[in-house]
Amino acid sequence: MEDWLFYSLTTLLCLLCSLLLRARARSPSSSSSAHDATSPPPLPPGPVPVPVLGPLLFLARRDFDLAPVLRRLARDAAPPSPPAPPATASGAVLTSGGRNVSSSPYGATWRALRRNLAAGVLNPARLRAFSPARRWVLDVLLSRITTTNSNGEEEGESPVVAVMEPFQYAMFCLLVYMCFGDRVNDARVREIEATQRDLLGSFLSFQVFSFLPPLTKLVFRRRWEKLVSLRRRQEELFLPLIQARREGGSGDECYVDSLMKLTLPEEEEEGGGRLLTDGEIVSLCSEFLSAGTDTTATALQWVLANLVKYPEMQAKLRAEIAAAAAGAGNDDEDQVKEEDLQAMPYLKAVVLEALRRHPPGHYVLPHEAREDTELDGFRVPAGAPVNFAVGEIGLDDEVWSAPMEFRPERFLPGGEGEDVDLTGSKEIKMMPFGAGRRVCPGMALAMLHLEYFVANLVREFEWREVEGEEVDLTEKLEFTVVMKRPLKARAVPLRATRKPVADDAVVAAA
Ligand code: HEM
Repeated sequence: MEDWLFYSLTTLLCLLCSLLLRARARSPSSSSSAHDATSPPPLPPGPVPVPVLGPLLFLARRDFDLAPVLRRLARDAAPPSPPAPPATASGAVLTSGGRNVSSSPYGATWRALRRNLAAGVLNPARLRAFSPARRWVLDVLLSRITTTNSNGEEEGESPVVAVMEPFQYAMFCLLVYMCFGDRVNDARVREIEATQRDLLGSFLSFQVFSFLPPLTKLVFRRRWEKLVSLRRRQEELFLPLIQARREGGSGDECYVDSLMKLTLPEEEEEGGGRLLTDGEIVSLCSEFLSAGTDTTATALQWVLANLVKYPEMQAKLRAEIAAAAAGAGNDDEDQVKEEDLQAMPYLKAVVLEALRRHPPGHYVLPHEAREDTELDGFRVPAGAPVNFAVGEIGLDDEVWSAPMEFRPERFLPGGEGEDVDLTGSKEIKMMPFGAGRRVCPGMALAMLHLEYFVANLVREFEWREVEGEEVDLTEKLEFTVVMKRPLKARAVPLRATRKPVADDAVVAAA
């Protein structure tokens, strides 16, 4: 009801505004003079602006797909620059007013939070320490796949697996452990997963509160209540786990441990510094879980979908995995070991090709021009929101031959993607993790997770297309860009039957 009323009123007002603007544009006094050498370059072209109501209508849409509009603008010669959400009322609740890495503006607080994440939990030594946790999560993932029965198959038949659910669960188990360190039982992991998923699912719809918050909170009262209740739920789930660490939890040093020791530098200058509040720690944990789970699970699904669609690539990859394990004397091991991944160039090529062709995010997080800049003959004023079309960059036919085709070989020696620089410091051919100062700090962890799980999934099972469930690579925008028809594939076991692992064992035993 509230949506219906809102849309009717804003559409009416919008129409009135555009009629007024058009009438003004047609009047001779308002026609602007042509751009000459002395005047500043023009702003990039964009849709006709409808002040106040345009942004409001745009933000109120839960499902607005900006990509086709931007693609059209890019074709008409403009560098694409989608609107960035400004600091929002929802951000005040969900990110403790911008005190997490991704929403903190460039400055001392952002540097402290980012350095803490990168050095505290994502540095190579800490990543190695989490190796036993990855091992246990792999066991749970494999045994979930073996015991799945998505299509009601006969007993004894190889299972048909809707892969996204077990992938997401596995990523949650891992990141919950890296975040909270201690034992978290299966039921609690599930509750955390459900809350974070609900939050991500509603994320776009909460953007409406960036505009005239007193009004939009009133008009979208139920939406606002949902946001507040999700945040309350997060606190109920995370605070006992944070408190347990404070009281000296066991297990590996985790993200929460590092956050409890962190002081914010700008407050230090004001007199001694202060530790993060519990609310701020909750926001940072939420960011850690959201940033690292769906992105990686989505990428895993795209890799596997392509391996199912192209069985010859799957066979080539399996042969490489077997040769590398044999070369290291690890062919009897019941997993592909992390240290053997370095000897698998084709594996890396398959993962990179999936990230080029189907990056989980088609844009980076909103950036802002810090000073007036000129780009391709267009003016980008200081303070303007700027973004980058990650999805399009990876499909540039001046860089990639036959860019729409899935060809891992392009990342092998002699290919146009050989030695591709994912950080963008030398050149930018693709940027699934962003580039520059705000490049994804979880890149190394994500690449490790992708290579480790893909290698083990391909060694353990032959993944086959299922009749009636042919692989469809059409994309769909959710929090990440997912498969419109999620992958279902038959997992034919290639090795001796595994003992099913109890889910509770995952984190408890790591
Ligand atoms: C395949 C997996 C992943 C992909 C494709 C991905 C992609 C991205 C992208 C495109 C950005 C925006 C960069 C920019 O604005 O320029 C980003 C930022 C970020 N990512 Fe990731 N990411 C992944 C996994 C992870 C993981 C595992 C973590 C941590 C556990 C993580 C934490 C973050 C954080 C905290 C930021 C904000 C950085 C900042 O603003 O300084 N990401 N990621």
